[in-house]
Amino acid sequence: MRALVVMSLAALLMLPVGAAAQGSLNVYCSVQAEWCQGIATEFQRQTGIKVAISQKGSGETLAQVTAEAANPRGDVWFGGTGDPHLQAAEQNLTLPYKSPNLDKLHDWARRQAEQSGYKTVGIYAGALGFGYNPELLQKRKLAPPACWKDLPKAEYKDEIQIANPNSSGTAYVAIATIVQLFGEDEAFRYLKQLHKNVNQYPRSGTGPIKAVARGETSISISFLHDGVTEAVAGFPVKTQAPCEGTGYEIGSLSIIKGARSLDNAKKFVDWALTAPAQKIGADNKQFQVPSNLEAKLPPQAPKFAEIKLINYDFAKYGSKAERKRLLERWEKEVNSQPK
Ligand code: G6P
Repeated sequence: MRALVVMSLAALLMLPVGAAAQGSLNVYCSVQAEWCQGIATEFQRQTGIKVAISQKGSGETLAQVTAEAANPRGDVWFGGTGDPHLQAAEQNLTLPYKSPNLDKLHDWARRQAEQSGYKTVGIYAGALGFGYNPELLQKRKLAPPACWKDLPKAEYKDEIQIANPNSSGTAYVAIATIVQLFGEDEAFRYLKQLHKNVNQYPRSGTGPIKAVARGETSISISFLHDGVTEAVAGFPVKTQAPCEGTGYEIGSLSIIKGARSLDNAKKFVDWALTAPAQKIGADNKQFQVPSNLEAKLPPQAPKFAEIKLINYDFAKYGSKAERKRLLERWEKEVNSQPK
């Protein structure tokens, strides 16, 4: 008995100050694991609120939040592409919250909030493009791709990876981008042709660029900043913004409806919108554009001013009907087809 009391006292002493009183927070996290861990550690250290992280892709998290709607287990959903956050807002799976820090954000991040009735907000932006392994391409005597129209060429047979758009927000942004650039029917002809060159559709959006880094595939369709992360880590990875123009994401943050720790969830949102909290991304070698106007852009980050961006229609491609329809069409006309 005595041993037990001593042990639980010792356990209590190991908790951050006031943790027991401050309660906990369940964060569903759709950015890379290092960043998820970074925010958990720092928020917990500053507030004493105990943070549990569950990391999953954007499409997968939307599926989980939908499945748990009657009995929600997550409090906040941090990061991941904006389209599934907008869909969650439309489906009433997330709660409106006007953080006092909204006016410290770039227009594009505030617009994301306004568009969703304040059920989500932008925390970062990232542009889509290609990653490639120059050593592997050279070995195969292949030129790096410069344009979307290059990817379906016969010489790239089995050389390309893009994630599965059902689980990955990155891959969904790619499909929506191709549809917006070329029109839907032409886009599906393109995706069917591209299918012949794709050796795998991994679950996670960063799967393809990590495969490029490891020399398992020559080319990936990825966010440019994810290519920079691999290059900075010393892998032979280069990135390319497509010549026709490209789409982008507004990585978002939402409070889950039915959150058990609602006050802590609001505190977390206020904190995550500050410049010091947003710096945790760059500290963990993540090179998105932060949404706080005072947060510094790391020098290695892709420069939006140098990339031809399309006017991505977030309202349309983040709506439930459009996302569901495009994903079903992709499954039927592309993914289920033989190579
Ligand atoms: C990476 C990127 C993020 C992006 C996320 C989407 O973590 O760095 O900018 O939001 O992927 O992940 P998903 O698996 O949904 O494509």
